[in-house]
Amino acid sequence: MTSKEIRQSFFDFFENKLHKIVPSAPVIPHGDPTLLFTNAGMNQFKDVFLGSGNREYKRAADTQKCIRVSGKHNDLEEVGRDTYHHTFFEMLGNWSFGDYYKNEAIEWAWELLTDLWKLPKERLHATVYRTDDEAYEIWKKYLPADRIHRFDEKDNFWEMGETGPCGPCSEIHYDRTPDLSGGKYVNAGVPEVIEIWNLVFIQFNRKVDGTLENLTSKHVDTGMGFERICAVIQGKNSNYDTDVFMPIIREIERLSGIGYNGELIDNNGIAMRVIADHVRTLSFAIADGAMPGNEGRGYVLRRLLRRASRYARNLNFSEPVLYKLVGILVENMGEIFPEIIQQRQFIERIIKAEEENFLQTLDRGLDRFDEIITRIKTSGETIIPGSDAFLLFDSFGFPLDLTEVIARENNFSVDSNGFNSCMDEQRRRSRDARKVKFQQVDSVLHKEESEFIGYSESVSEGKVLSASENRLILDRTPFYTESGGQVSDTGEIILAGEKYFVSDMQKSGNAIIHILDREVEPLIGEIALAKVDLQKRKHIMRNHSVTHLLHEALRTILGSHVQQAGSLVSPDYLRFDFNHFEKVPKEAITEIEVLVNSKILDAIPVETMVLKLEEARKNPKIKMFFGDKYGDTVRLVVMDNKYSMELCGGTHVKNTSEIGAFKITAESSIAAGVRRIEAVSGAGVQKYLNELIAKVDEKQQNNVELSEKIKSLEKKLEQFKIEEFKQAANVWIDTAYKIDSIRIITRQIEVNDLDVLRSIAENLRNSLGKQGVALLTAVMNDKIQLVCTVTDDLMKTIPAGQLASAAAAAIGGSGGGRPHLATAGGKDLSLLPELLKNFPDIVKEKLGK
Ligand code: ALA
Repeated sequence: MTSKEIRQSFFDFFENKLHKIVPSAPVIPHGDPTLLFTNAGMNQFKDVFLGSGNREYKRAADTQKCIRVSGKHNDLEEVGRDTYHHTFFEMLGNWSFGDYYKNEAIEWAWELLTDLWKLPKERLHATVYRTDDEAYEIWKKYLPADRIHRFDEKDNFWEMGETGPCGPCSEIHYDRTPDLSGGKYVNAGVPEVIEIWNLVFIQFNRKVDGTLENLTSKHVDTGMGFERICAVIQGKNSNYDTDVFMPIIREIERLSGIGYNGELIDNNGIAMRVIADHVRTLSFAIADGAMPGNEGRGYVLRRLLRRASRYARNLNFSEPVLYKLVGILVENMGEIFPEIIQQRQFIERIIKAEEENFLQTLDRGLDRFDEIITRIKTSGETIIPGSDAFLLFDSFGFPLDLTEVIARENNFSVDSNGFNSCMDEQRRRSRDARKVKFQQVDSVLHKEESEFIGYSESVSEGKVLSASENRLILDRTPFYTESGGQVSDTGEIILAGEKYFVSDMQKSGNAIIHILDREVEPLIGEIALAKVDLQKRKHIMRNHSVTHLLHEALRTILGSHVQQAGSLVSPDYLRFDFNHFEKVPKEAITEIEVLVNSKILDAIPVETMVLKLEEARKNPKIKMFFGDKYGDTVRLVVMDNKYSMELCGGTHVKNTSEIGAFKITAESSIAAGVRRIEAVSGAGVQKYLNELIAKVDEKQQNNVELSEKIKSLEKKLEQFKIEEFKQAANVWIDTAYKIDSIRIITRQIEVNDLDVLRSIAENLRNSLGKQGVALLTAVMNDKIQLVCTVTDDLMKTIPAGQLASAAAAAIGGSGGGRPHLATAGGKDLSLLPELLKNFPDIVKEKLGK
């Protein structure tokens, strides 16, 4: 059978089973922002599976043009190097939309393969999802148990992309080994045993948050690799040997004068396979409206073209040649896909221009590549640095994967992380440069009409109405634009498989403008996925709802003269300005907090309604702001059965309990008669408390350190004093009162530690040596401290202990101690001068003189 006959017989078979034969969808998925290219036959039926769309039929079949070169399904690396992967391929498929299920899907697949197409039954293997006993039992009707294999999620749970319809699947594999020993190679990635048909039992939707949701109906989605089944039926080991590819390869042979020998490791063979594959992808993508470019989908096509162009260079083509293959493709596939007949000239022109453009730098780039390789070889390395790969990219237009291809041919690898950081660096630079341009205010008045759906949604699809520079306008969006004090949302937009960061929002007329982190392709009419940063939005909503509660609490506690003068509602905190004539006292702040928190703890529903402005005006309880412009209809936010009623376009929690908690953080004056309250709610309260506690802890720590410092300074001071009095002792000794040769020293000094006083006395005693008596006194804490000391030679005659107790007695105290040094205390400060004067008499008396 020819490939055309195979395709037709597939259609006929399923038409007989009451399937509607439908045309292939374009390879550019215009309605689905999650995909860069159509990657499976079921893409065009996604809405039916999810229950949001309908068709007039419950069964369908077709051949779908698919491109798998990015995202979840990407076969680029294998292309050309093996015989059965392609970036572009046809997928034959049949579908049941809530109609037949596993039984029929398996039965008919078996019938088509073995009955109509007469594939040898003994060469067929089936796989099922590890827990799918139902599919396993059905297969047992057709296959022995040793040719039914169970696999896990990786092989037998099919998903369209990061999100979307999915489910367990059952695959049919074909064993090409001569001795039928291929069972062990199922899913091993070898050409001897290949998957030919995948039957997916769609029953779930993978949601944005990663969870699976049950679909209301169960569906069948099958996909058979057309080029593979042609190879199997035509008895070829390589898809490229079938009549699908051979005409293109023959044309390459003719143009290059080089023969194709089909060998896997032959460089010319690889080049021809890559070229044949990539020309198909480029032609169909361009026919369906894509263009080579620098971003997203466009860059994927440019990369493919440059890879193919470099392989053509290996076949000694130095002029554009890829475009010359479009004609033969059109001849062979135009009948089934007429769009390439209509677009033929356009496709050729675009491909040729791209080739010419790249060829201008290709040879110089290849020369530079040789230099890099020579340099690295001499240094004994095997990795091409990221900076070299980036140079090849930046100056010669070599996409990273092309550099990797050439590196691999030379047994080198590429430091792709290094490349990426060079790339990021350049992007950052150009972003900074562009920022200046972007920041200018948009002076155009937009006529587009966007609907804000963020009251109920945080994720939604929207159609692109306008896109220029980094500004994107959708027909509907969940993103809030700053208004009424509430700040704009941030988040992401996914468009044509590219993710953009939404950093700000603006309004112009009725158009809601998303400000993106970089330039966006003008894909007018395409569907974008808009995702608000929900965590941040929730903080904003808490702060907004609590602002209404605060407003009402201020009126209750401070008086009904309180009017809002301005507000800011951000994710981190809220600010509320209002007219009031004096500072709000601490007690009132506490009362306000208690009142607001009681409304939070009461878990009050928050309701919103739309009413006529006239109606709103009639109710004096409804807060409205004279500064604000209102339309004919207004939105009213009500809490606690009319406790708080405010006209407000902002987003709010559904119940006050979601606010969690409320805390005022500051109160201040901002103008005469205008006060400002700053406050936090929800997680902000915890953050605030933690910061507060950290501050208190820090203070405490500081205090501890401070008192340690004081202690050590005091110690130093004591030492210093002791030293100082050592010096003074010489003067004291020189001027001492004398009884014969005995020197008597009496002094009052300023120290406030008894130990210090004692040390000073010890030192003095040492300096005296012999024939010395001393009385040192100091006032400490309003008490007199005495230290009396006597040199060794006098210890027996006039022991210090006795002198001390006699001295103490003179000031109404007591004390005593050892013969060389004794301490005593007294209370009567007024008697101290007398004592100091009389001490020599006390000594005299003790000496018996
Ligand atoms: N959608 C399934 C696949 O692409 C059939 O393999």
